[in-house]
Amino acid sequence: MSENQQVKILGLSGSYGLTSKNGLLVQLALEDIQSFGAEVFIWDLVEKPLPLVGSEGSWDDANVKEFQALAKSCDGFIASSPEYHGCMSGVMKNTFDWLYFDHVSGKPFALMSTLGGQTNSNTLNQMRICVRWLHGWVIPEQVAVGKVKEAFDDDGKLVDEDLRARVSKMAESLVITAAWRATQR
Ligand SMILES: Cc1cc2nc3c(=O)[nH]c(=O)nc-3n(C[C@H](O)[C@H](O)[C@H](O)COP(=O)(O)O)c2cc1C
Repeated sequence: MSENQQVKILGLSGSYGLTSKNGLLVQLALEDIQSFGAEVFIWDLVEKPLPLVGSEGSWDDANVKEFQALAKSCDGFIASSPEYHGCMSGVMKNTFDWLYFDHVSGKPFALMSTLGGQTNSNTLNQMRICVRWLHGWVIPEQVAVGKVKEAFDDDGKLVDEDLRARVSKMAESLVITAAWRATQR
């Protein structure tokens, strides 16, 4: 990749639907990522569900093949998961489970999570471990949105300005890292 080529970033949500809180959060971050010069994509699990890994027919599933091809063509990823019982959602894990070294090795990931209760880093830490196993590079900036029911206004924007600024900082770091890594591959 030459230095002036646009990097491609894929957004992944660990909840179904782009109007879920994680869907909103990923879209919000992608707006920033685009403003820093990247081309952005989002995988919508409502439109194109990914089957459970290993379920009947899953290895030959057309959505899986399309998802993997898109991931392979991208230079970086932003993923956001709800916290379920202190863990990333099964949906998020299943999405990660469809990614292999071939699609993501050496590419940066930015991570976010949402919680019904108090902010913590459980889900973010789990996602970090999972991505490390894929040989993805997780950037140090991360965002956890606690008390998520009150976190967004009616237009789907984050109410807390400090949190909004953190998302923006993270987006900038992801684009810079993706552009740098892309010249190394
Ligand atoms: C099965 C389940 C387990 C949950 N466990 C937790 C939890 O352990 N801690 C917490 O703060 N919120 C918990 N929640 C609340 C979710 O984190 C919250 O609904 C989610 O972040 C909202 O995002 P979404 O609109 O993208 O689903 C749980 C919700 C569900 C459905």
